[in-house]
Amino acid sequence: MANTDFSNSAGNNSNTNASNTELQAYRASVLHFTCDPAFHQDAHVWHEDGLLIIRDGKVQAAGDYAGLKNTLPEGLSVQDYRGKIILPGFIDTHVHYPQTDMIASSAPGLLPWLETYTFPTERQFSDPAHASEVARFFLDELLRCGTTTAMVYCTVHPESVDAFFTESEARNLRMVAGKVMMDRNCPEFLRDTAESGARESEALIKKWHQRGRQLYAITPRFAPTSSDAQMHLAGELARAYPDTYLQTHVAENTDEVAWVKALYPQARSYIDVYDHFGMLRPRAMFGHCIWLDDADRARMVETQSAGAICPTSNLFLGSGLFDFARADAQHLALSLATDVGGGTSFCMLQTMNEAYKVARMGGSHLPALRLFYLATLGAARSMQLEGVIGNFVAGAEADFIVLDPQATPLLARRTARTGSLEELLFVLALLGDDRTVAATYAAGRQVHLRQN
Ligand code: GUN
Ligand code: ZN
Repeated sequence: MANTDFSNSAGNNSNTNASNTELQAYRASVLHFTCDPAFHQDAHVWHEDGLLIIRDGKVQAAGDYAGLKNTLPEGLSVQDYRGKIILPGFIDTHVHYPQTDMIASSAPGLLPWLETYTFPTERQFSDPAHASEVARFFLDELLRCGTTTAMVYCTVHPESVDAFFTESEARNLRMVAGKVMMDRNCPEFLRDTAESGARESEALIKKWHQRGRQLYAITPRFAPTSSDAQMHLAGELARAYPDTYLQTHVAENTDEVAWVKALYPQARSYIDVYDHFGMLRPRAMFGHCIWLDDADRARMVETQSAGAICPTSNLFLGSGLFDFARADAQHLALSLATDVGGGTSFCMLQTMNEAYKVARMGGSHLPALRLFYLATLGAARSMQLEGVIGNFVAGAEADFIVLDPQATPLLARRTARTGSLEELLFVLALLGDDRTVAATYAAGRQVHLRQN
């Protein structure tokens, strides 16, 4: 059991990295959310001819151009994005950066996919140079797709976390990431031990959590690959560092669920295993959540745990269809996620597209406004980061994207025929991809500009 003492925690080293001290202004249509449109009317804010004003990398104001233009100092040049839509950067709440190079690898289900592709691919991340090269590509790809924040799994190697955060910090991105902990039921070459996994995770928390915009997630891969001792220590860490994140997989695939049942016959359910080890809490993000029951969801809600829904992955691996209706009936905190490399796209628009279809298969109908909410403010709320990212309230970090409704000939043709904001957003979600993202800004600084 635990012989590691996490009580002397603290370890926050605040390092504010103001990226832009100048005043900036952007004119376009502006969309963001203040509430969940599934439960509140007027949850979104829409300025057809809008202005977004940024100061020191933070939002100063978002509103109608006509109302705000006179607040700008004489002579300030306004970036003109008229005809396009500015919205908060997308947030992907579950993605594996080391799996970038194995995206689109076919297998008959999750468990053979892990054995055949995932573990050999992740083995290479003991090499810091390889990890850095993949992290750079991965972050470029996220920014090309308009994703400015992600909850990221690294590998079991602490070097993979250093490589990721180093690249993220250099771009001043708001990222959450952690070292995978796994000490059983995986190849020898990818194993830590209960003690080394906890010790290395704690060292990484002290090094990276709250350093600039970086945030740490305690990351036991999933119940089958952690011993009781490791699960216990992960729970201890989560208690000792309550403002860190915790991320893992739950109830993704029926074979996986049966495996957990065999490993933990006394547990009421899969989520109950995590609950037993103290892992249900605010800032805990559970990937997939397909094969849960009402009691599982109720317990997640009670503990302020959140679900990351991964439709492209779930369809690709044949894992199942997430039940949006049951989750919403119980008010489970939801967000959308790509789960690359199980997922088949880095793009949150493509992820919305598949989420819409998964919901349809379950008899639900997700409005486009809800899809955009889930990929922005819904995710920020699930991560307890409302007011920091996810919308344009004054003081929020200025992570935003510029979507081009005319990015492709088909989009231009179809969006010219839309009669409402809902219809326009729906077309963008169904037909959009990385080409739709004209520009991406992080903390007020341009980090991607689409080349035509
Ligand atoms: N369950 C445990 N590890 C993984 C992973 O890497 N991807 C997915 N989709 N599920 C998992
Ligand atoms: Zn995953």
